[in-house]
Amino acid sequence: MYSKLKLFSGRANQELALEVARHTGIPLGEVEIKKFANDNSWVKIKENVRGTNVFIIQPTCRPVNDNLMELLIMIDALRRSSAAKINCVIPYYGYARSDKKDQPRVPITAKLVADLLSTAGADRIIAMDLHSDQIQGFFNIPVDHLTSQVTFARYFREHLDLSNAVVVSPDAGGAHRARYLAERLKLGLAIGDKRRTGNNDEATVSSIIGDVKDKTVILHDDILDTGGSLTDAARTAMQYGASRVIAACVHGVLSRDAVEKINESPIEQVFITNSIPLPEANRSPKIVQISIAEMLAVAIKKIHTEESLSILFR
Ligand code: R5P
Repeated sequence: MYSKLKLFSGRANQELALEVARHTGIPLGEVEIKKFANDNSWVKIKENVRGTNVFIIQPTCRPVNDNLMELLIMIDALRRSSAAKINCVIPYYGYARSDKKDQPRVPITAKLVADLLSTAGADRIIAMDLHSDQIQGFFNIPVDHLTSQVTFARYFREHLDLSNAVVVSPDAGGAHRARYLAERLKLGLAIGDKRRTGNNDEATVSSIIGDVKDKTVILHDDILDTGGSLTDAARTAMQYGASRVIAACVHGVLSRDAVEKINESPIEQVFITNSIPLPEANRSPKIVQISIAEMLAVAIKKIHTEESLSILFR
C-alpha cells in the first residue's frame, strides 16, 4: 500500500470532487489550471506528490475535448512529479458511445481515449456505468467499473411507492442495466424497441415488450443526451397503458432542447446522478440529482487500502 492518498480535481466537476473530498476526509490537492491566450491548457501541481497514491476526479463531460485534454495534462504533470500511482476517477466517460466500428471508415474513439489515458501515465481507471461493459477491455490497466443502480435503488426504496412498478429499458442494449435495477428493486422488466432514424441523434421507441399496463414505469437508461429516447419511450409507455412514468438516467448530458422535451413529456420526474454538473440553464422541477459522491469516496478509500469493492454492488 502507498503511504499517502491524495485527491486532485480538474475543472470538469469541482462540486462533485469537493463532495468526494468531504466524504473521504481528505482535502483536494492544490493545482493551478489555466489556458494561455493561444488556447493551450497548462497545469501546475502545487504540492509535493512524490511516492503518493493520487486520484484525479475528472469526468470527460462538456466541453469534452477540453476536459479530456486537461485530464491528460494532469496525469502527465503528476507522473513527472513522481507520483507513485495515478488513478483516474472518470464517472462519465465522454466518447463512450463511439465504441464500435458500425459503419465503414469510422473511428472507435472510446478505444483511442483509453490509449491516450494509458500513454499519458494512468495506472487505473475508476469509471461508472460505461455505455458498454466492453469498454473496460479497451484498457490494459485495471478498470474498476462502478454502478449507480445501487444508489438509485436505495433512493427509490426510500422515496417512491414501488408497489405496482416496472423497470423499462428504452432499448435492448440497455436491458442488462435495467434488469440490474429491477432485481435490486424486486420489480419486473420491460424493454422498448428503439430505432435510430437517418440522423443518428434522433430515436423512436415504437413499442414496448412486456407488461406496463396500469403500472408505474421507471425508465432506466445510461445517458440522457438530447432526451429523444427517453421522452419517446415515455409517450409509448403511456400509450401502452402505464399509469405514470418516472425515469432514472445515470449521466445527465442534457444536450440541445432536452430539458424542454422533458418538461413537455408525460415523465413526472427524471432522476440523474451528479456525474456531470447540472448547469443553472438545465434546472427543472422535473429533474432531481442524486449524489454518487459517497460511493466514489468509498471506492477511493478501498482501492487505496487494497480492499474489495464488492460492498458497493450490494
Ligand atoms: C444509447 O444507446 C444510450 O443508451 C442512450 O439511450 C442515448 O444516449 C440517449 O440519447 P438521446 O437522449 O439523445 O436519445
